Amino acid sequence: MDLNEIQKLESMVYANTFNRLPVAIKKGKGMYLYDVNDKRYLDMFAGIAVNSLGHCHPEVVKTIREQSKILIHTSNWFYTIPQLELAQLLVKITGLKRAFITNDGTGAVETAIKLARKTTGKREIIAMKNAFHGRTLGALSLTWGERYRKPFLPLVPEMKFVEYNDVDALERSITDKTAAVIVEPIQGESGVIIPDDNYLKEVRELTEEREVLLILDEIQTGFGRTGKMFAFQHSGIEPDILCLAKGLGGGFPIGATLFSCNDFEPGEHGGTFIGNPLACAVAKTVVRVIMEKKLVKNSERLGSYLLRELRERNLSVRGKGLMIGIDVSDGKRSVLDLIEKGILTIYSGNTVRVLPPLIIEKKHADQFLSAVEDIEL
Ligand SMILES: Cc1ncc(COP(=O)(O)O)c(C=O)c1O
Repeated sequence: MDLNEIQKLESMVYANTFNRLPVAIKKGKGMYLYDVNDKRYLDMFAGIAVNSLGHCHPEVVKTIREQSKILIHTSNWFYTIPQLELAQLLVKITGLKRAFITNDGTGAVETAIKLARKTTGKREIIAMKNAFHGRTLGALSLTWGERYRKPFLPLVPEMKFVEYNDVDALERSITDKTAAVIVEPIQGESGVIIPDDNYLKEVRELTEEREVLLILDEIQTGFGRTGKMFAFQHSGIEPDILCLAKGLGGGFPIGATLFSCNDFEPGEHGGTFIGNPLACAVAKTVVRVIMEKKLVKNSERLGSYLLRELRERNLSVRGKGLMIGIDVSDGKRSVLDLIEKGILTIYSGNTVRVLPPLIIEKKHADQFLSAVEDIEL
């Protein structure tokens, strides 16, 4: 099937939800993806910061093969070892006290919302303007932007927004009803917006002083993306609740909410597939390989290299680790031009977002840089 045929057939059977780019991907290996005509593309967006180990990493494939021969699903009526071991691993590397596994990022945010309301007895949650926290109704209520929200109003009440990177505005907005503040350490979907260096630390101090929970949404920034295992480690702080997903599964759908605040009671939260043994076994492998192969360091090193080289080409860029935004005159046009050059990226408005797998090497970075030189950004 070629692209035209796929587009035509899809328009007949699939929900009209995605504004897809004109590439039909058939397979992937390492840093590369191949379309249905076997054209090769360098993957510089990693399925939106997900494929931390690139495509079809041998350790991931091996885990899927081995675990799927043992146990794929049982539900949470029973104990399973991969779920327990993943929770132990996440507690260890985050420093938080407990884990709840979810199926995706929006599920991790839903868990955080319920946990904040349940454990404080308060209802109000403060999010940031331009934030993205997901598309289920709870998470959507904390997501900024008319185009996401308007068709679905009314959303969950008692959610409000303040300016990102403005601690004074946040301080003014906290009331006796505030259960929690939710923040992305770097705003990803709105175009790689990086706050001041001391912002997170000040938010932590303020939330502690005012006795409200701090929820960090590290769904995009977690697992080495920004050059530390978690972005909060750049600021030397610890959240009360931490939302994770994307890079955790390396492509396998999974998320997690870590927390040090009080816990749920049995029956208050759950889900049939949550903590599925196959997903948990894969996530354990992904985290192990990130650590063993020192991919967090690689993210910091290659991210610095890319940023430096892009700046030398007089581009307006910002980023941390392998989470980079390039300002361009037309995001979609630049991404389409890069596709012509065999490079896959994504865009938010007039920002090209560069989020390669953490396994990227200098030769891949150089391939991207020379493609960037060839097009008009
Ligand atoms: C910061 C952040 N939070 C939440 C989400 C939602 O995650 P998911 O798409 O897995 O539901 C995303 C997805 O882009 C995200 O970037």
